[in-house]
Amino acid sequence: MNKTVKAKANVNIALIKYWGKRDEELILPMNSSLSLTLDGLYTETMLTFHSDLERDFFYLNDVLQSELETLKVSRMIDLFRNQAGIPDRAMVKSWNHVPTGAGLASSASGYAALAAACNLATGLNLDLKTLSRLARRGSGSACRSIFGGFVLWEKGTNDADSYAYQIDEANWDLAMIIAIVNPKHKAISSRVGMRHTILTSPFYPAWVDSADSDLQEMLEAVKKKDLDLVGRIAERNAMRMHATMFAANPPLIYWQPETLLIMEQVKKLREQGLSCYYTIDAGPNVKILCKQSESQHIIKELSQIMSSEALILTKPGMGVEVSYVC
Ligand code: PMV
Repeated sequence: MNKTVKAKANVNIALIKYWGKRDEELILPMNSSLSLTLDGLYTETMLTFHSDLERDFFYLNDVLQSELETLKVSRMIDLFRNQAGIPDRAMVKSWNHVPTGAGLASSASGYAALAAACNLATGLNLDLKTLSRLARRGSGSACRSIFGGFVLWEKGTNDADSYAYQIDEANWDLAMIIAIVNPKHKAISSRVGMRHTILTSPFYPAWVDSADSDLQEMLEAVKKKDLDLVGRIAERNAMRMHATMFAANPPLIYWQPETLLIMEQVKKLREQGLSCYYTIDAGPNVKILCKQSESQHIIKELSQIMSSEALILTKPGMGVEVSYVC
């Protein structure tokens, strides 16, 4: 009987967004991106190879997944299985400790955990850059969840050099508040949304140009550990990504009315002297970058416009962790 392995990967939230693929098969992005890995919101995955299984099985939150979902998981496992020459099928059980599909990047933590589990279970022991490169093939943003702190995903020139790595441990006065507007599965996946934006938004080329220049400024801001500068650039970059979607035909709008209310409140709190900045992904939820030392105050203020149960406080988190179960 083969050993069962366990892997845990945290979610990451992009401060310079990835929006658009130049190669859909290999998941090569149009632009480089930068994220912050978060503590306490994660996927845990257990994987065992069995010689007597006829196919791979994939359970998510204790529910057996469809053929299509299982196929995506099998494709990732194959990247490792083929390299290691292992013919066995796998039993994969994952638990998301984050609302699934709500723009909270559970696919990032999911594929990062799966890749890390495959790495240990196959005995390949690939280095973290290679692991990041392979995690990318499941979901682009997963390549960033291999690492902790601030992480840069270089778009690269091909499959071999498009991977992520840590640029800063983020052990300064930092926190992120997740304001959950709607925990339900999003109607339009990032994959479909990206393709639609590239094909129909006349603003798309401007998005790619501005993301590149935002990233250069962001790298300087992180180096200086300047939260206000990091926040200002992140907020601007998220708005530019959504602007390119609004200009798609038909428009792609992930926001809900509450999204705007929270954005307004964040702006108001900033005018009162608090360091807080929002960013929004392919969903209605708002993520607020702030100082850990001011986070309780900000949560108190935000609970005036929404339920405090819909506010999750997190801090920078670590990269993937793996272990043997038995
Ligand atoms: O990796 P995907 O396919 O889940 O796309 C992620 C897209 C955004 O979350 C909107 C931006 C990002 O860089 O994480």
